[in-house]
Amino acid sequence: MKGIQDAVAIVTGGSTGIGRSAAIRFAEEGASVVVADVNVDDGEQTVAAITDAGGEATFVETDVSDEADVEAMVETAVETYGGLDFAFNNAGIEGETGSASEQPTTNWERVIDVNLKGVFNCMRAEIPAMLESGGGSIVNTASIAGVVGFPGLSPYVASKHGVIGLTKTAAIEFSGDGVRVNAICPGVIETPMVQRSQEDSPEQMEQVKAATPMGRIGQPEEIGDAAVWLCSDDASFVTGESLVIDGGYVT
Ligand code: NAI
Repeated sequence: MKGIQDAVAIVTGGSTGIGRSAAIRFAEEGASVVVADVNVDDGEQTVAAITDAGGEATFVETDVSDEADVEAMVETAVETYGGLDFAFNNAGIEGETGSASEQPTTNWERVIDVNLKGVFNCMRAEIPAMLESGGGSIVNTASIAGVVGFPGLSPYVASKHGVIGLTKTAAIEFSGDGVRVNAICPGVIETPMVQRSQEDSPEQMEQVKAATPMGRIGQPEEIGDAAVWLCSDDASFVTGESLVIDGGYVT
C-alpha cells in the first residue's frame, strides 16, 4: 500500500482482535506502530509478534477515556518515532445488554466514555501532531451499530452513531489541512468481543450468519487491512466516509 513505509501509526485497542490485526498489517507495510490499550499482557504480545517478524512497535498502556493517558500516548509516538502520520482509533467495549428502559446509568456512562469520548480524546490529541508532521490520516472504528439500531444495545448503538458524526465533522474541519478522517463499520467479526457474546448466546451467531448474504462472520484481518488501506495514499481522495464491511448484512 502506498505511503505506509516509514510512517508512524497509533492503534488503540491494539492488544487483541481488529486492532491487533491492523497493528500487524501497519508494521508489515513498514510503519512504526504504537500499540495503545488497557490490556498490557496482550498488548506486549502484539508488540512481540511485530518485532519478532522484524517490524517496529512500542506498547503504551492507555485508557482512551482518560485525557491525560491519551496525551501521553501521542507524546510517546512523537518522541519515540519523530512524528505522527496515522491513527486507528479502534478501542471499544460492548457494555451490558438490556432495553433502553433498563440500562443502568453507569453502563451508559462507561460505554459512551470509552467508545465516543475515547475517539474524541484521541482525535483532539492526534490532529495537532499530524498537522505538525505535515498531514495524516485517521480511521475511527464505528460499527454497523453506527448505521442501524440493535435492540438491547442502546448505549453501544448511540456511541457508534456518535463516532460517525464526529468523523464527518473532523473530516470537514481538517481535510483541507491534509488530515483525512474516515470511519469503518464492521459487521460481526470473530474477535474476543464477539467470542464472549457467542458463549452467552450461540444461537444468536447462527441467526447472524443466516442473515448475512455471505453466510459467515468476518475475520479481524478483513477489517484491519481495510483500516490500513484507508490510511494509505491508495485512499488519497477518501474522507468523511463510513465504510461498511459486513458481508452484506445491512444491505
Ligand atoms: P476486542 O475486545 O478484541 O478489542 C477491543 C480492544 O479495546 C481490547 O484490546 C481492549 O482491551 C481495548 N479496550 C477496551 N477498553 C479500552 C479503553 N478504555 N482504553 C483502551 N483500550 C481499551 O474487540 P474487537 O472486536 O476487536 O473490537 C474493536 C473495535 O471494533 C471496537 O470499537 C468494537 O466496538 C468494534 N466493532 C467490533 C465488532 C465485532 O463484531 N467484533 C463489530 C463492530 C464494531
